[in-house]
Amino acid sequence: MMVKLEQLLIFFIAVLPSATSQNPITCDQSCPGGQFPTVPYPFGFNSACTIQLNCTSNGDVLIGDFSVQQITSSYLLVSLPAKCGRSIDTLMHLYSEHYAPLSTNGIVLDNCTEQQMRTCMISMTKLRTDPKIANCSGDQAGEGRVSCYSSDTSTTSMFLDYKNVTRTGCRFLFSGVAFSLDVQRVRLGWWLSGTCNCSVDADCIKIVYPVDGSNGHRCESRSEGDGHKTSSGSPSLKGMRNLL
Ligand SMILES: *[C@@H]1O[C@H](CO)[C@@H](O)[C@H](O)[C@H]1NC(C)=O
Ligand SMILES: *[C@@H]1O[C@H](CO)[C@@H](O)[C@H](O)[C@H]1NC(C)=O
Ligand SMILES: *[C@@H]1O[C@H](CO)[C@@H](O)[C@H](O)[C@H]1NC(C)=O
Ligand SMILES: *[C@@H]1O[C@H](CO)[C@@H](O)[C@H](O)[C@H]1NC(C)=O
Ligand SMILES: *[C@@H]1O[C@H](CO)[C@@H](O)[C@H](O)[C@H]1NC(C)=O
Repeated sequence: MMVKLEQLLIFFIAVLPSATSQNPITCDQSCPGGQFPTVPYPFGFNSACTIQLNCTSNGDVLIGDFSVQQITSSYLLVSLPAKCGRSIDTLMHLYSEHYAPLSTNGIVLDNCTEQQMRTCMISMTKLRTDPKIANCSGDQAGEGRVSCYSSDTSTTSMFLDYKNVTRTGCRFLFSGVAFSLDVQRVRLGWWLSGTCNCSVDADCIKIVYPVDGSNGHRCESRSEGDGHKTSSGSPSLKGMRNLL
C-alpha cells in the first residue's frame, strides 16, 4: 500500500507536470463499445475537441440525455423517444454554440393549453390515436392536449426557433419528427464558429446561429477530406463512409 502511494505521488510530482506542459491534450475521438468507435472531425469527447459530445461507458454518444444515431457532414441525427412528462425546457439541451435543431423538424408537444397543430409531417389523427400519447394526457385520445410545432413555411431560418417552440403554451416535450417522417428523432445542423475557413476543394456554408446571431460556417468537401482547413490528421467523414 505504502509503495503504491509513493509511486502515485512520484507520478503526480514528476510525470504529470511535464506531461501537461510538453504535450497539450489532443482531441479524443474514440468512444469504444458502441455505434461509433470513433467520431469524425470536428467531434470528440474532451475539451480539446472543437465540438464536444459525451461518451458513456457502454459506448453511447450523448448530447444531454439524447443519444446520437448518425453523424453526417451536415447534421447529427439524435434520438428523441416519445416520453410523457418531459419538461419542454429539455429541448434547450439540443441547442449549443455548435448545433441546433433544423427547421425541417417537427416537435411534438404535450399538456398544451390550446391545440395548435400545424402541418407537422405527421398527421393529427395518427398522433391522437397513438396509445402512448393518449396515456400522457390522461384524457380521451389526448384531444386538445397534444400539439406539434413546426417552423413557418415562409421562414428562411435554417433552425427551429427555441422561443417560438416554448411560446406554444405546452409544458411537455413529447417527441420529435425529423425530416422525411423519421419519428422519435430530430436532426441537428452543426457548424464551426467564425467566418469561412475551408480548404480550396470545399464549399463553405454560412450559418447564422439563431440564439445570438453570431457567425458560423461549415465546409462541404467536393473531394477527399472533410473540407476543413483545421482538421488535418483527424479521422474525417469522407474516410468513414461506412458509418454514415
Ligand atoms: C456532457 O456531460 C457534462 C457533465 O454531465 C455536461 O456538463 C455537458 O453539458 C454534457 N455535454 C453534452 C454535449 O451533452
Ligand atoms: C396537464 O396540465 C393540467 C393543467 O393545465 C394539469 O392539471 C395536468 O395534471 C397536466 N397533465 C400532466 C400529465 O401532468
Ligand atoms: C396505455 O394505457 C392503456 C390502458 O390504461 C394500457 O393498457 C397501455 O399499456 C398503455 N400504453 C402505454 C404505452 O403506456
Ligand atoms: C417565430 O415566430 C415569429 C412570430 O410569430 C415569426 O415571425 C417567425 O417567422 C418564427 N420563426 C420561425 C423560425 O419559425
Ligand atoms: C484557418 O485555418 C488555418 C489552419 O488551421 C489557421 O491557421 C487560420 O488561423 C484559420 N483562419 C481563420 C480566419 O480562422
